[in-house]
Amino acid sequence: MAKLEIRNLRVAAGGKEILKGVSLTVSSGEVVVLMGPNGSGKSTLFQTIAGNPKYEVLDGDILLDGESIKDLPPEDRFARGVFVGFQSPVAVPEVRFAFMLQAMLNIRAGKKLTDPNPQALAQAQKIAAELGLKPDVFSRGVGVGFSGGEFKRAEVLQALLLRPKIVVLDEPDSGLDIDGIAAVGKAIMELSASGSGVLLSTHYARVLRFIKPTRVYVMAEGRVILEGDEGVIKRIEEVGYQNYFREIQKELAL
Ligand SMILES: Nc1ncnc2c1ncn2[C@@H]1O[C@H](COP(=O)(O)OP(=O)(O)O)[C@@H](O)[C@H]1O
Ligand SMILES: [Mg+2]
Repeated sequence: MAKLEIRNLRVAAGGKEILKGVSLTVSSGEVVVLMGPNGSGKSTLFQTIAGNPKYEVLDGDILLDGESIKDLPPEDRFARGVFVGFQSPVAVPEVRFAFMLQAMLNIRAGKKLTDPNPQALAQAQKIAAELGLKPDVFSRGVGVGFSGGEFKRAEVLQALLLRPKIVVLDEPDSGLDIDGIAAVGKAIMELSASGSGVLLSTHYARVLRFIKPTRVYVMAEGRVILEGDEGVIKRIEEVGYQNYFREIQKELAL
């Protein structure tokens, strides 16, 4: 069993406090959904989990299986089994996608970066076909000319290949066509069934056609203001964030 615990995390970027005490957990076998209006701090949380040095932890902790990873460099967090897919990934033209996949597997296995691994590449090609990702991505530079949908599928491919303890995906359903959402949703359920803990952000109830969340957190202005179930996602889709916040405020006042 693996567990990622975000404990009272306060984070600053660009000289401004963005996360103001965020706590949440995700464990093996869970699919945890994070919602919240634009600018509420979801991507900041994910970047901080990944270890992006632009995001300064002011207080609180990030624990993997009870051990703090908050001061580890990104590659060590990754080697320990925390995989983070980004909302807007960057392209790395000088590294072929196939080489990056092989390098990632080698890092996880504690091998040399360049150790050949033809078996893994064959597996990656099989997964790509299932995700509807064209085989030519492997010979292209990472992210070079990738469409929005190809980026998202490529990140899920990495997770399926690596089977990390914890998979964090920032809006994996955005920019995808309906087949893409179905393929990514299926992959997310497969990851959790095989023992990964999945934390993802989304804005849309349509993902519920394909995933069954264990738990839903809602963020606003750098804080988690609510924990609930998939009913929360449906209600937010129906009425919008601001009306939803008014509704729960009324309920709290009763
Ligand atoms: N590197 C950064 N420098 C300065 N401000 C940032 C940085 N990253 C995020 N922010 C700010 O933090 C707030 C939360 O952004 P973000 O985490 O991207 O929200 P979300 O993903 O929920 O839409 C926004 O006001 C955004 O402008
Ligand atoms: Mg975001």
